[in-house]
Amino acid sequence: MSPGQNPASGAPVIADGRVDINPADEPPGMFYFFLNAVIVPRPIAWVSSRSAEGTDNLAPHSFFTVASVEPPIVQFTSIGRKDSLRNIEQTRDFVVSFTPAALIAEVNATATDFPAEVSEFDAVGVTREPALRVAAARVAESPVALECKLHTTVSFGISTVVMGRVVYAAIDPAVLRDGRPAIDLLDPASRLGGNEWGRVDLDGIANVTRIGHHEWPGHYRPRASDAGGPDAA
Ligand SMILES: Cc1cc2nc3c(=O)[nH]c(=O)nc-3n(C[C@H](O)[C@H](O)[C@H](O)COP(=O)(O)O)c2cc1C
Repeated sequence: MSPGQNPASGAPVIADGRVDINPADEPPGMFYFFLNAVIVPRPIAWVSSRSAEGTDNLAPHSFFTVASVEPPIVQFTSIGRKDSLRNIEQTRDFVVSFTPAALIAEVNATATDFPAEVSEFDAVGVTREPALRVAAARVAESPVALECKLHTTVSFGISTVVMGRVVYAAIDPAVLRDGRPAIDLLDPASRLGGNEWGRVDLDGIANVTRIGHHEWPGHYRPRASDAGGPDAA
């Protein structure tokens, strides 16, 4: 059954020309698939951590974003209790490594549910690089590492949001142009719905400047079909 289907008939629930979905009416877990498919593309945090016993863990998390600028805080969400979450709760350190499209196979392989005592670095064959400020390994093949100290966790049902203060960052100069990270050189992989992965369409990148209120409407032109506006007859 897809989200928004009538459980009895299987027919879509349509109101005002849209398929309506009330999360509370969905079977357990179903709304998650819907959110996953419409909140796209998602950047992927390749989260490395070290267990109290010293095993280097590595796993992708696409429920990931910037939480705060100053202090710099990033967050990811563990859906269920996994090795990454347990390690970070215990040792409080982790690294978020960037996931370039060239490493999709490796990133995906580190999502395998290996036992806690197996290091994904060894099983998958990616290289440990020492972090400078935290006790977790960076991924040497990844061009960007954010070294994080656990700030806060917040739990909602089976999901736990892990917020980490970025205490150090390192970037490969090969992905810099004029001193800035360049999107074509980074070539990020992203997560879409289901098992889909995405990458940036470099030809589709648009540079659109923001419009200050003092210059409104600036370069903005309403669509021809819209009534009113500066270009309307
Ligand atoms: C691209 C991708 C993104 C993922 N995003 C998440 C996520 O945001 N949260 C989560 O709990 N699991 C996510 N997973 C699944 C975990 O990576 C997987 O459960 C992994 O085995 C967890 O490893 P760990 O037990 O070593 O922490 C994702 C998997 C892939 C392939």
